[in-house]
Amino acid sequence: MSNTCKWISFGVVSLGVVVILVFLYHLSQENNSKCPNEGELMQNDTRECFKRETKGPCFNNLVFVEDKPRSPYGACSCPYMEFNRTIIYYEGQCYFVFSQAYCNEGYWLNVTTHGEPVCELNPCSQQVTQELEAVGVEWVQIKDGRCVQLGKWAEGCPEGSTVRFSRNYVRPSCFQPVTLGQTIGAISAPSIRKCPAGSYLAISGKCQPTMEFDFDY
Ligand SMILES: *[C@@H]1O[C@H](CO)[C@@H](O)[C@H](O)[C@H]1NC(C)=O
Ligand SMILES: *[C@@H]1O[C@H](CO)[C@@H](O)[C@H](O)[C@H]1NC(C)=O
Ligand SMILES: *[C@@H]1O[C@H](CO)[C@@H](O)[C@H](O)[C@H]1NC(C)=O
Repeated sequence: MSNTCKWISFGVVSLGVVVILVFLYHLSQENNSKCPNEGELMQNDTRECFKRETKGPCFNNLVFVEDKPRSPYGACSCPYMEFNRTIIYYEGQCYFVFSQAYCNEGYWLNVTTHGEPVCELNPCSQQVTQELEAVGVEWVQIKDGRCVQLGKWAEGCPEGSTVRFSRNYVRPSCFQPVTLGQTIGAISAPSIRKCPAGSYLAISGKCQPTMEFDFDY
């Protein structure tokens, strides 16, 4: 065989390998998605497809997301990744921590370090009734035990910072304000980011972070 011939057959073989790899890759992608449209997940029992991160077939304020990382099947979950504020699943609904939720008047929802929901006396409920009840004003407790307004500057906070929730901590604290997409509002809009790997285990609302709940801020 001449040198040119060798190079040509080498080229043909390489090209063949590339084509086969591309084909196999496509095949594997194809097998993974069960739904005709991109961004959709299948509900296993009904074989119906719904756009991921939307309400889909879910009740109340749950959203439809992958039941496992990279799964083509969906399951209903709380929008854990959409908010920095800890979200607690209880009997088919998602609630923000330190909201009254399903608790009695004067109580609010907390979470144990193991992630179980508990109703406890709301230490800030006095504040609410003392002040004129302004719509959208929410009182939360910061580390030193004081009740302060969420989303506002509080005494002792660095200048320009506001009391906000941070991912990774249950309790709110002083943080520099964010300029984009402030999310202090209610749980409603179902548009959430992908759950990080390892955070899918859950009570029924899937996608619960597996970490312990950290209060030490
Ligand atoms: C789908 O449902 C069938 C039974 O209805 C079950 O055997 C199977 O494991 C389910 N698959 C997934 C991916 O949930
Ligand atoms: C909520 O529960 C945690 C863990 O039991 C506790 O440390 C904390 O004081 C409770 N209340 C608030 C407002 O963080
Ligand atoms: C959410 O938490 C992250 C990290 O803790 C922080 O950088 C970000 O500003 C927070 N976002 C909001 C809207 O508070």
